[in-house]
Amino acid sequence: MRSTPIDYATVKQKIQELGVAKVGKASIREIKKLVDDIEKATGERFVRMEMGVPGLPPAKVGVEGQIEALKKGVAALYPDIHGIPELKKEISRFVKLFVNVDVAPDGCIPTVGSMQGGFASFLMLSRIRENHNTTLFIDPGFPVHKQQHKVLGLPFASFDVYDYRGPKLYDKVKSYLDQGNIHSILYSNPNNPSWICFTEKELASIGKLANEYGVVIMEDLAYFGMDFRQDFSRPGQPPFQPTVAHYTDKYVLFISSSKVFSYAGERIGMMVISDKLFNARYPDLKRFYPNDLFGHAMIFGTLYPLSSGTSHSAQYGLAAMLKAANDGSFNFIEEVKEYGEKAKIMKKLFTDNGFHIVYDRDEDRPIADGFYFTYAYPGFTGVDLLEEMLYYGISAIALDITGSERLEGIRACTSLIQRDQFGDLEKRLKAFHADHPII
Ligand SMILES: Cc1ncc(COP(=O)(O)O)c(C=O)c1O
Repeated sequence: MRSTPIDYATVKQKIQELGVAKVGKASIREIKKLVDDIEKATGERFVRMEMGVPGLPPAKVGVEGQIEALKKGVAALYPDIHGIPELKKEISRFVKLFVNVDVAPDGCIPTVGSMQGGFASFLMLSRIRENHNTTLFIDPGFPVHKQQHKVLGLPFASFDVYDYRGPKLYDKVKSYLDQGNIHSILYSNPNNPSWICFTEKELASIGKLANEYGVVIMEDLAYFGMDFRQDFSRPGQPPFQPTVAHYTDKYVLFISSSKVFSYAGERIGMMVISDKLFNARYPDLKRFYPNDLFGHAMIFGTLYPLSSGTSHSAQYGLAAMLKAANDGSFNFIEEVKEYGEKAKIMKKLFTDNGFHIVYDRDEDRPIADGFYFTYAYPGFTGVDLLEEMLYYGISAIALDITGSERLEGIRACTSLIQRDQFGDLEKRLKAFHADHPII
């Protein structure tokens, strides 16, 4: 029997009880349950890095706006499917002030989390051109987007961007577009799970290809403004959130409120459809919708049957947060900087103890400190490392479920760990390092 920081026999038993062949391949929710069970059985607190959930209280101005709307009775009324006018106006202002792009309020649509925006867009974009049925994912990525494709029965292609940064990205993406079946491209930026951020040159090459091949870019900005190497917090002043929208005019931006406003529980996000796409006519849409106008088919043909719009009171909450951010009275980026500060400390604790960062650069620059980082340890696959580290009271997810080809890697989320746990983290990593000498 080995001596490990968390009782070896208990961890082993709980892993067996979970009944999966390989813990490291289990879903995030299964790992969460396993760690809950181990914590309960041992009374030990884990350093929990498996779930990408906000670790901060919700933005106050949003909660107040929402309560006020509820008191006025909006709960009784169906909201407009395309969103309340106050919110549409503030989303449009927000993208002008923080992204520096002009999008009419018509194309600024609240969705039930950015997750629903993705689902609706996949459904629509796979139908705009008859012979183009495939989405291209620039991976690693958010596993649920692939699950959505599977549920919809839609094909997708993907590649891990690790070996294709900088000038190599253009040719790699082009090689997929040359196959002639791609309708749109999706990536997140900053990236979940790797926290890489595309450089302006990379975004420009994606935009150029979109123009050349007539494909639509879906840019997932779930971690809007959270590349803390630059200060994106001043409305109307550069620097602005980097985006492909500066390089192409047919795009959909998904801006989640879950992380940046710590509003995950209310399930409200923003789908921003460029004017050019919103007003585009695609005759092939007539196969599925009475109207071939993209924006119209999105609202009345897709969002309507999905959920008949987005929670009425949450729309008022989001409108209040955006108005305060747009007016410069609420610095939403300052509120979430804590994630970056924790990441910096945590990454050092890992690298001081034999670990290395897997996705470590944006071309010539070290990656930012933020919501996630990736790590590996010599001699382990990510799947095996995840399991072994459970005996040391540290939980995370293996990169192998994210479309990454870096099978040695693990994703750590910085949100739930509390600063008073850094001592524990250090002790556990030291113990791990001592027990697994690097030859
Ligand atoms: C990259 C990415 N996209 C989308 C989402 C989903 O966001 P929402 O909570 O707004 O549905 C997440 C949540 O973790 C994410 O990481």
